[in-house]
Amino acid sequence: MQVQRVVLTSRPGNNGEPSPNNFRLEQKNLTSDLEDGQVLVRTLYLSVDPYMRCRMNEDTGADYLAPWKLSECVDGGGVGVVESSRCSALTEGDVVTSFNWPWQTHAVMVGGGLQKVDSQMVDGHLSYFLGAVGMTGLTALLGVREKGHVTKGANQTMVVSGAAGACGSLAGQIGRLDGCAKVVGICGSDEKCKALVEDLGFSAAINYRCGDVSARLKETCPAGVDVYFDNVGGAVSDAIIEQMNEGGHVILCGQISQYNKDVPYPPPLSDKTQEILQRRNIARERFMVLSYMSKAEAALFELSQLVKSAQIKVLETVVNGIENMGVAFCSMMKGGNIGKQIVKISD
Ligand SMILES: NC(=O)c1ccc[n+]([C@@H]2O[C@H](COP(=O)([O-])OP(=O)(O)OC[C@H]3O[C@@H](n4cnc5c(N)ncnc54)[C@H](OP(=O)(O)O)[C@@H]3O)[C@@H](O)[C@H]2O)c1
Repeated sequence: MQVQRVVLTSRPGNNGEPSPNNFRLEQKNLTSDLEDGQVLVRTLYLSVDPYMRCRMNEDTGADYLAPWKLSECVDGGGVGVVESSRCSALTEGDVVTSFNWPWQTHAVMVGGGLQKVDSQMVDGHLSYFLGAVGMTGLTALLGVREKGHVTKGANQTMVVSGAAGACGSLAGQIGRLDGCAKVVGICGSDEKCKALVEDLGFSAAINYRCGDVSARLKETCPAGVDVYFDNVGGAVSDAIIEQMNEGGHVILCGQISQYNKDVPYPPPLSDKTQEILQRRNIARERFMVLSYMSKAEAALFELSQLVKSAQIKVLETVVNGIENMGVAFCSMMKGGNIGKQIVKISD
């Protein structure tokens, strides 16, 4: 069987922007004769995520992330359907996911490494397993719950950066459902601001690419900020932390504004921001969704209920075709997405 796959051809370097030219599409002959325990899967959807920028480096900077190898097929989150099986736990037609799905149209995989999912959990919207009812949803829900200290009735103000992205768009909605009196989103375009307020129920939204973020924050959060879900780091985060209240909590989810720079994670803070955190007793602990996998099953069930009952709205940006994996990844890194960036590979 002829399949198409994406390989990494070059690295952007620790200090550089990734380019679609770092990837190449190849044809490959796949022998679909299965050994015991193997399955043949057809890829339906693939995920592109910010952590992949680290996998493009020779040294990812994180012991839980292996670098992608040059000239080899790239992998990440994926969902697909079993076409034939020699694994007793899986049969033809089963929908399965994995965090190590090859960027390939069909693949022979070890059945034991795949997770069978129930399409009713997402009302048949299978790409949600890569987003709202998958890792992204878990990151938003568990991040808010584990590090946010949101208390119903406490009149808290929450700010979310990267708010129109996959995690941010969910985190803000969860903050509102959990009881924040006000949720303000920071994002990179007026179109995104409109979606946050009109479609997702954010109280207000600020475009950090135009205007004075600090001044707009003062207007929208006159009582200061109690909870900050930080996806971006850098100058945007400095401006938000400056307006945080005594005893506030930063959910340190990600620092995407620094991912094309050769700095450790989390990147060092300015002396001024560090001093504000200390003086105001603001907690800023690193959050890693992988540290909370014992809570994943219950959290995915809750996310599924929230999505199915439309208490949470899901936004996606879907690009078609395996040939567009590199383009979709680079576009997401620069803000081309609203909600979760997905690549649809087949029907
Ligand atoms: N801690 C964990 O376990 C965990 C798990 C998953 C993800 N994460 C982190 O969560 C964050 C969001 O990930 P995601 O998958 O939801 O991606 P995403 O938000 O859907 O996409 C990335 C977004 O980042 C924004 N961005 C890019 N460069 C920026 C810059 N210089 N300054 C400000 N914003 C910038 C862009 O939106 P704009 O148009 O608004 O700029 C872009 O849409 C990332 O930092 C990621 O590493 C952490």
